[in-house]
Amino acid sequence: MENLETVHLQVKDIYYPPEEIKKECIVQNYEEMYKKSIENPDEFWSEVANELFWYQKWDKVLEWNIPYAKWFVGGKTNITYNCLDRHVLNGKRNKVAYIYVDEDGNEKKITYGELLELVNRLANGLKSLGVGKGDRVSIYMPNTIEAIASMLACARIGAIHSVVFAGFSEGALKLRINDAKAKVVITAAYTKRRGKKIPLLPTVKDAIKELDFVKKVIVWDRDNELSEEEYGSHYINFQKLIKSSSPVCEPEIMDAEDPLFILYTSGTTGKPKGVLHTTGGYMVNTYLTTKTVFNIKEDTIYWCTADIGWITGHSYIVYGPLANGATSVIMEGVPVYPHPGIWWEYVEKYRVNVFYTAPTAIRMLMRFGDEIPAKYDLSSLKILGSVGEPINPEAWIWYYKNIGREKAVVVDTWWQTETGAHMITTLPCYPSKPGKAGKPLFGVVPAVVDKEGNELPPNTVGHLVIKKPWPSMLRTCWGEPERYEKYWKEIPGGVYSAGDLASVDEDGYIIILGRADDVLSVAGHRIGNAEVESAIVEHPAVAEAAVIGKPNEIKGESIKAFVILKEGYSPSQELIIEIKETVKEVLGAIAVPDEVEFVDKLPKTRSGKIMRRVLRAKELGQELGDISTLED
Ligand code: PRX
Repeated sequence: MENLETVHLQVKDIYYPPEEIKKECIVQNYEEMYKKSIENPDEFWSEVANELFWYQKWDKVLEWNIPYAKWFVGGKTNITYNCLDRHVLNGKRNKVAYIYVDEDGNEKKITYGELLELVNRLANGLKSLGVGKGDRVSIYMPNTIEAIASMLACARIGAIHSVVFAGFSEGALKLRINDAKAKVVITAAYTKRRGKKIPLLPTVKDAIKELDFVKKVIVWDRDNELSEEEYGSHYINFQKLIKSSSPVCEPEIMDAEDPLFILYTSGTTGKPKGVLHTTGGYMVNTYLTTKTVFNIKEDTIYWCTADIGWITGHSYIVYGPLANGATSVIMEGVPVYPHPGIWWEYVEKYRVNVFYTAPTAIRMLMRFGDEIPAKYDLSSLKILGSVGEPINPEAWIWYYKNIGREKAVVVDTWWQTETGAHMITTLPCYPSKPGKAGKPLFGVVPAVVDKEGNELPPNTVGHLVIKKPWPSMLRTCWGEPERYEKYWKEIPGGVYSAGDLASVDEDGYIIILGRADDVLSVAGHRIGNAEVESAIVEHPAVAEAAVIGKPNEIKGESIKAFVILKEGYSPSQELIIEIKETVKEVLGAIAVPDEVEFVDKLPKTRSGKIMRRVLRAKELGQELGDISTLED
């Protein structure tokens, strides 16, 4: 048994949803519904899936050959039919699907009817370039309607999209395009950030230089400013492609288990994993969780501030909200530009009811003071969501008071790229506790266990596992089944190991304490220590590097790198700058260490593995713990 640590959260408070919200909740009886989802999963999931359209119904809800699951076996559908056609045919042709806004107050609305047409045109355009079912398409786009349409166009024809966050740089992009062997890349001339145009096309050009399997690059030339020479045979103009393609495209009939997308996420080794999600189960669970956690009704205005480049964007900007026929706000830009009240200005302007963001953003906006949100009418807000990292009680309460004005409920949603959809949270009808994500959602059976898989008593820190398969679970890691299987082998007992530390309180509320493995969480972004280390050693002066996370008030964690230089190099300020620049080039700005320290030696095990834990403890002035495996 490991050493058991006990958690004592200071906050004992419990917050009950206001009556006005409670009576509007789609789910009134969480406990009962949860019980049914566990005791009678076939019936439960069939009922949910039956709210959606299928060309052919499933023969069996679940086939489970641990660790491989098939959901809605034999079912045939197309997720874009459910996200678009279904609403257009149900009288929502003119309902707004997205209100796009940027930092300058520019606005663009698109209705369900228009979005369907755009998606169809682009889908036909992709077909004309030779893209078909099962082909991969990498999408490196700003957070815009055009990006969403690109994802949906792939799904329309059964191509597998792999969205790469547009903040990633050339190295990270190349690795992802290469791993997925994408036939086509969709990109834009630039993205807007803090009043500047950040070019994207040059990054794509560099990334694909040696990748000859990339047949075409579709470029959204936002300002029609690329010269003819920019194109050549490799580059296709997005707008022209759309114009010249037919607005009618029959959806590809997809098996429930046909792949929908790959999304890369950091693991404990240098190379990110290509998490693969399939069609049916992902569709059903993103539909259900969006509906129940965010209480989506006919007139709900919903805003998720994530970027489509992350899983939150996939599930809760694109597929979940569209499957529910919601109207969503999306924004391209940052929360503090042109002023730190921009989000609240848009909440007021669009009368947003559901607002979904990350603790790091809340902590940052908190810093600007209560007066900023106080200037705006935020009375439309009913549900405030949090995702991506643990929300500390202080930030929770600030969000609740200053944004929700004590009239909205906070839902702290724990989930992962791998889980596809929300797993643990309190539903809006259910009492919440600041800092604790809460209760398992439908079909989810979590437990907190030791390394041997033994369940731990309440208020004890252990590993978070999920004991049963769920519909939106990842199906494999692209090209690396052994990495997928590892999730189910890490801890004995045939359970999915989430890689997080957690504990359960006496009321069954789960608190997530952070990663248990060598994965950092910087501003809610998941970054592998090893990924940053291998980026650092790309600098010619570096022999070896180790990276740790340090607690950071706003970002949750900040990165510190310990670097051993090669013979002939000596520490200097310039080298620090260059090393940071290297990380930025290889991975992107989000992975750049805040601190770089030059050292002569790194603590290692006798087998040569860097003991980051020891470095971290030393840095933070904590007990070193068990160092019996330390080499010297
Ligand atoms: O450590 C957990 C943290 O984010 C990790 C998953 O990261 P990613 O796959 O990038 O997905 C982020 C968006 C779903 C988890 O293993 N995490 C996510 N949500 C929470 C959280 N930690 C605490 N509380 C949350 N609500």
